[in-house]
Amino acid sequence: MGGSGMTAQTPQPAMTLGSILRTRWRRIAAGAVLNFGSALAGIAAVALFTHALTAPAPGQPALGLWRVAGLGLFLVGALFGLGMVSQSLIVGAGHAIVHDLRLRLVRRLMATEVETIDGIGSARILSTLTKDVSMISQAFNSLPFVIFGAAVLICGYGYLVWLSAAYALALATVTVLVVLVARRLAVRAKHHRRLAREADTRIHEAFEALIRGRNELRLSRVRRAAFLRDGLQPAVEEARRQESTADLFGVLTSNVVNAAVLLTILAILVLKQGLGLGSLEQATAATTLILFIRAPLAGLIGSLPHWLAGTVAVRSVDSLALAEQAGEPPLPPAAADWSRLDLSGLGYRYPARGADAGFAFGPVDLSVKQGELVFIIGGNGSGKSTFARLAAGLYPQQQGDIRFAGRSITATERDWYRQHVAVILSDFHLFQQALSADGEAPSTEAADRLLRLLALDGKVRLAGGAWSTVSLSQGQRKRLALITAILEDKSILILDEWAADQDPEFRRIFYTGLLPLLKEQGKTIIAITHDDHYFDVADSLYKMENGLLTRIRGGRHGSPSAGLAVGKG
Ligand SMILES: Nc1ncnc2c1ncn2[C@@H]1O[C@H](COP(=O)(O)OP(=O)(O)O)[C@@H](O)[C@H]1O
Ligand SMILES: [Mg+2]
Repeated sequence: MGGSGMTAQTPQPAMTLGSILRTRWRRIAAGAVLNFGSALAGIAAVALFTHALTAPAPGQPALGLWRVAGLGLFLVGALFGLGMVSQSLIVGAGHAIVHDLRLRLVRRLMATEVETIDGIGSARILSTLTKDVSMISQAFNSLPFVIFGAAVLICGYGYLVWLSAAYALALATVTVLVVLVARRLAVRAKHHRRLAREADTRIHEAFEALIRGRNELRLSRVRRAAFLRDGLQPAVEEARRQESTADLFGVLTSNVVNAAVLLTILAILVLKQGLGLGSLEQATAATTLILFIRAPLAGLIGSLPHWLAGTVAVRSVDSLALAEQAGEPPLPPAAADWSRLDLSGLGYRYPARGADAGFAFGPVDLSVKQGELVFIIGGNGSGKSTFARLAAGLYPQQQGDIRFAGRSITATERDWYRQHVAVILSDFHLFQQALSADGEAPSTEAADRLLRLLALDGKVRLAGGAWSTVSLSQGQRKRLALITAILEDKSILILDEWAADQDPEFRRIFYTGLLPLLKEQGKTIIAITHDDHYFDVADSLYKMENGLLTRIRGGRHGSPSAGLAVGKG
């Protein structure tokens, strides 16, 4: 049995911040090395200055004042220059990573089956594309602080160990304690960050309802009040609570760092004055060093929450389980003569939700000859649109087979098969850009002819491959969507209640003018319809009831198996 396991999605190793980082590791490594140079220069400057300041006689540092000044300028210049180059490398890498991530997410979404996308829901997808990406981008934007902080810390330690083992031990003890505390706080913060992230998806859902339900909301005060009270406000409130708790841990951490730095200096004071450990020069150097380390250390520890928030976001992206595709694999050329499309035993069940077991579609059999005009009728909720999605290959069937042009359409052939099908569903999207079969701009004459036929010629023009406007009435938009689909020149056209929002005149044009014209051009059309006036236009007529398809007339094509197969419902 197929199901979602048969879709063209390959399982991928989990995405992590580390795995994303590795894509730009060269640039980051180069940045880190230069950053080390910058940190070394800074530490050396601190050492030089304290050495000069604590010189035995005023005006007589061991190196001589001018040499100290020269060397000092050089070191500060190195700190600045190397810092600039290295940080811009790292910052650039961070932005490049975000750029790649955005494109990669969009590519993954485009490689993901419609069924999966419908299952995830647009709110979650939008909040991933915006919120998660920005959280990940913040994590990478904190990279320069992490690297510079680490570099300064490492170089500082080196210097301090050389200066005085006792002082280094004092700093090491405090650092270990701070890191332990910061980690605990960060883990707590991460928990709240995750809860906030969940609230965020609910906020996006509410935003969507806010825009889509604008008419209903505007018309009803009680609905507005209920929407705020039960929908948006609780989610916004939850996000505020969780975010501020998480931030509180961040604030606490940075204060811990500040206090710990001064405590280290106090420890050095006790070591020097109380226990007589170290000279005045060593104590001054250590103190200055620690004050110098403070800012980079605070930066390092302060970016910990961003980094952890980034891991929350990465996990959220990963949990969407989008398909991964290195590129669009080449497809065999489209079949021009395929003679027949056989759907046999197609079955699909929507996932159960609570007490609802999920609508069961099928098993449905249908054979269509190339060039045939098929009508399907049926009541609301009988499964007609589900049929349209399955027949178009948008939803993979869980049971049964699609045979097309002599091939059985499984996961690997599905995208090839879909290239033969154009669909207009009730939730169609009208792209401004019109494309011909080869992806170029369609011919203006062909577009003009269709626009005239569907009486849109005064309204819309095709200019530079794009429609001059898509701001039209629903019925007009549907007409333009049909024209767009016809210009794509696919050989199968599936129309889901296309004529429902057309006036009687356009229905007449559609059934007696356009459909016969398309049939004449060899197009195969499966139209879901309620217009019993025009049933005789069709070559064959089927009825959908409770997820089962019954043949009413036509559609045998002299194939006994097809004749037996249909009509089981
Ligand atoms: N996205 C969905 N998730 C779960 N169930 C659905 C979904 N879409 C449709 N259904 C179920 O499938 C049944 C058939 O829907 P549909 O194929 O849209 O019917 P029709 O187009 O004939 O009105 C519906 O009654 C509904 O219970
Ligand atoms: Mg429908």
